[in-house]
Amino acid sequence: MLTEDAKTKIDALLAKYPTKKAALIPSLWLMQAENDGWLPRQAMKDVAEYLELAPAYVEGVATFYTMFNKAPIGKYHLEVCHNIVCMARGADELIEHIGDKLGIGKGDTTTDRKFTLNGAECLGACANAPCMMVGDVYFEDLTNESVDRIIDELARK
Ligand code: FES
Repeated sequence: MLTEDAKTKIDALLAKYPTKKAALIPSLWLMQAENDGWLPRQAMKDVAEYLELAPAYVEGVATFYTMFNKAPIGKYHLEVCHNIVCMARGADELIEHIGDKLGIGKGDTTTDRKFTLNGAECLGACANAPCMMVGDVYFEDLTNESVDRIIDELARK
């Protein structure tokens, strides 16, 4: 699962960190990006072997951080913050609205594999709650109407 190209990219990461262990999270992030946005167990094992770390340690790191997806996800991963500020500003209703629009629940992926919907802990954009991330892109001050526009635009891509 660890291609020569991935090894080259991990080697480049290793040059930036004092130890192989310190390069673990960016290496896992790289593997996730190279695997359609999720991290199969074999990828964790391969990274562990390449970085000379215990597989259980690598799996522990990968399963601790929610940014690592342990199952296949849709092309667009809608991560709606459901933490306190966003919740107070309607995040639960927003998640329900998105779920109704897409016909899925939290944690599910649409049958066309275009969208996965999840809640997320604080995204650090509380001043503009409610908000969500789609990949690396933030959307803030969301309303049912604005999130509809965002989803419709993504669906057209
Ligand atoms: S609580 Fe939602 S961004 Fe902080």
